[in-house]
Amino acid sequence: MSESSCKLTCKSIDSVLIVGGSSGIGLATALILAQAGASVIIAGRNKEKLQLAVQALPAGVKTLVMDASQKASVTEAFEQAGEIDHLVLASGSGRGVGNFPTLNVEDVRLGFEEKVFPHFVCAQAILPYLSEKGGITFVSAVSARASMPGTSGIAAANAAIAAWVPILARELAPRRVNAVAPGVIDTPWWDFLSEEQKNRLFTEYAQLTPVGRVGEAADIAGAIYFLITNTFINGQMVICDGGLSLGMNAA
Ligand SMILES: NC(=O)c1ccc[n+]([C@@H]2O[C@H](COP(=O)([O-])OP(=O)(O)OC[C@H]3O[C@@H](n4cnc5c(N)ncnc54)[C@H](OP(=O)(O)O)[C@@H]3O)[C@@H](O)[C@H]2O)c1
Repeated sequence: MSESSCKLTCKSIDSVLIVGGSSGIGLATALILAQAGASVIIAGRNKEKLQLAVQALPAGVKTLVMDASQKASVTEAFEQAGEIDHLVLASGSGRGVGNFPTLNVEDVRLGFEEKVFPHFVCAQAILPYLSEKGGITFVSAVSARASMPGTSGIAAANAAIAAWVPILARELAPRRVNAVAPGVIDTPWWDFLSEEQKNRLFTEYAQLTPVGRVGEAADIAGAIYFLITNTFINGQMVICDGGLSLGMNAA
């Protein structure tokens, strides 16, 4: 075996477009990939947020303003971006949380509209520009595979994305399609809570998690990097939750 065949590098991943790359998991993914030499484009709705994000990244990272929930915006942005090797879908929604008996169906519907359909639209619209050596990495959530009370709505949305992974891996071959399923990760996603509520929740989840802490965006970025650079992993969803879902019937 040659030494070069053992190396995991970004050499075969020349370009990566990260939808949701201006914050949290997407931003950490942009950092790790750009540091590894990939050519990176980060996309999001808010231009100022993208410009702030790019200042924290290595020189050369480009930005793309687009709204993944609007097909016309996605089509125009992807045309502008041109050919890429890999698409990471890291935009999301926090809708659909609550116990089932009182869960508002409109909130669940919004969860699908803010995450599932945007991921669908992006994954479809990228195809004319997506090289055969690359693929798509979705960011789902561990709720898709765990039986956590209070998550039936958000779990359904993330499970929809998880369901596409093995199917698209076959339909879009030889491109690879994978997903990462984060547990509780300390990102701006939780900013709907006050600082005090957030600290309490993170402390509670750290106690429930075998590794004794909640995750950082870099933990998930590392998993995404692994999925992108290991060209023999295909059709898989990797759970990255510090063991939170163990004993919760994670499949
Ligand atoms: N944090 C967690 O604990 C956790 C756990 C499990 C799963 N996840 C999933 O991980 C993914 C990333 O979450 P995060 O924690 O990194 O959240 P985050 O810090 O809030 O980042 C979300 C990113 O998505 C972009 N975005 C949102 N809606 C968009 C749209 N319609 N079009 C384009 N960009 C859009 C945001 O930028 P703009 O607002 O400027 O558009 C931002 O860059 C989400 O799918 C989330 O459901 C997170």
